[in-house]
Amino acid sequence: MPTLAVIGSQWGDEGKGKITDYLAEDADLVVRCQGGANAGHTIKVGNEVFALHLLPSGIIRENVLSVIGNGLVIDCEELRSELDMLRRTGRTADMLRISDRANVVLPYHRLLDGAEERARGAKGVGTTGRGIGPCYADKVARAGIRMGDLLDEVYLWERLDTIYPQKEKFAQSLGIRLEQEKASLLRTLLEYGNLFRPYITDTSVLVNDAIRDGKKVLFEGAQGTMLDIDYGTYPYVTSSNCTSSGICTGAGVPPSAVQEVVGVTKAYTTRVGAGPFVTELHDAVGLHLQNVGGEFGTTTGRPRRCGWLDMVVVRHAVRLNGVTSMAMTKLDVLGDLPSLKVCVAYDIDGQVVSEFPGSISRLSRAKPIYEELDGWAAASCRSADIVRKGYAALPKNMRKYLDFITTNSGVPIGIISFGKGREETIDLRRRKW
Ligand code: GDP
Ligand code: IMO
Ligand code: MG
Repeated sequence: MPTLAVIGSQWGDEGKGKITDYLAEDADLVVRCQGGANAGHTIKVGNEVFALHLLPSGIIRENVLSVIGNGLVIDCEELRSELDMLRRTGRTADMLRISDRANVVLPYHRLLDGAEERARGAKGVGTTGRGIGPCYADKVARAGIRMGDLLDEVYLWERLDTIYPQKEKFAQSLGIRLEQEKASLLRTLLEYGNLFRPYITDTSVLVNDAIRDGKKVLFEGAQGTMLDIDYGTYPYVTSSNCTSSGICTGAGVPPSAVQEVVGVTKAYTTRVGAGPFVTELHDAVGLHLQNVGGEFGTTTGRPRRCGWLDMVVVRHAVRLNGVTSMAMTKLDVLGDLPSLKVCVAYDIDGQVVSEFPGSISRLSRAKPIYEELDGWAAASCRSADIVRKGYAALPKNMRKYLDFITTNSGVPIGIISFGKGREETIDLRRRKW
């Protein structure tokens, strides 16, 4: 059963898009399982750069079936514009499939996302404003609309009849008005239904059949472990399970369907939005990482907060996701720093803590305990040379950095990445999947 999952080990933006696209060379299916257009996955192929939000990263490759699973929340307008973008590059959407059970992000979800953030004031989560939280909240409250509903006018009208008045009341309580009347919303949704009809299907059947038939299925995670609704830095998280647990419910597959888990880990740490970040740097090094790493959000353009690699976070991710190997990205960005710090534990109220705390107030008192390693010159690791010569040609101190991470996490590094491009990658895996 050759299946593989790609999961973010930190706060998202680890380079999952790049790694998924790289691994998709061998895939028959690439399946997104959770999140929505809050995700921004960047892929660089030759001179083309793609920023995907809803479309699975497999869509760039020919002959790969790209599946949007039931666990996603779909903004139809965003999906339409991504498909337009795809067509402008000369590609088609023929290989796209969308779950009939995926929930729809309605225009009022975006509106409510903004209003709720404003109401939180200084305690705001710093959401992407894409309506993700309100849409998942409606899903759980059984007040959602699903993609399959867009194909059934009578049922859709019944649903809106029940849901819309509740939403109007809620919006009023937040001091806003819904932009669209119920009848107009119905017409918009039916238009989307017509547009996406060819792609909407029972994707759980499709994915399970593919697994049964020995096809190679790659599950593409969105966000990252520390944004997981249960195991992230709650309440400064997103509204889905972005750990590997989300694959089962989000794609409709049993736990046994996930054989290998690749934890994508940036060589340092970044975070967009609010919430605790123990190894955050507010100094020139933080600024250096932000500039050299181009750390600005793919979805919102916001600057990403930067800091040293945090192994408490990475070990948390390894355990929760069952990571079997790591893909280390952005090693090139660390070049020319004289020394590198890696956080190995936290000091909380004078105690050494090596597991990520569940309490946000304890976490806010955590101070990083660092080990320091020597850096390397950027000139000693130009990606073209490195990829040609392989692991043995890496600067000695970079190999020490990688060894340190392997030992500390207990997980081998299978892939290392030195740049945005597909080819700027060293593959250390003994066997492909
Ligand atoms: P994702 O959300 O996990 O897919 O990550 P994003 O695409 O949001 O952000 C990662 C950014 O880093 C993108 O701009 C990638 O093109 C870029 N990137 C990925 N791997 C590398 C790498 O090894 N080196 C450098 N310099 N950039 C990388
Ligand atoms: P990818 O898949 C980084 C963050 C937001 C905010 C919090 C909640 O590209 O790694 P939301 O809009 O989901 O309600 O926002 O989660 N966030 C991300 N940060 N990468 C992402 O996705 C993210 N998706 C959501 O910045 O802090
Ligand atoms: Mg991203």
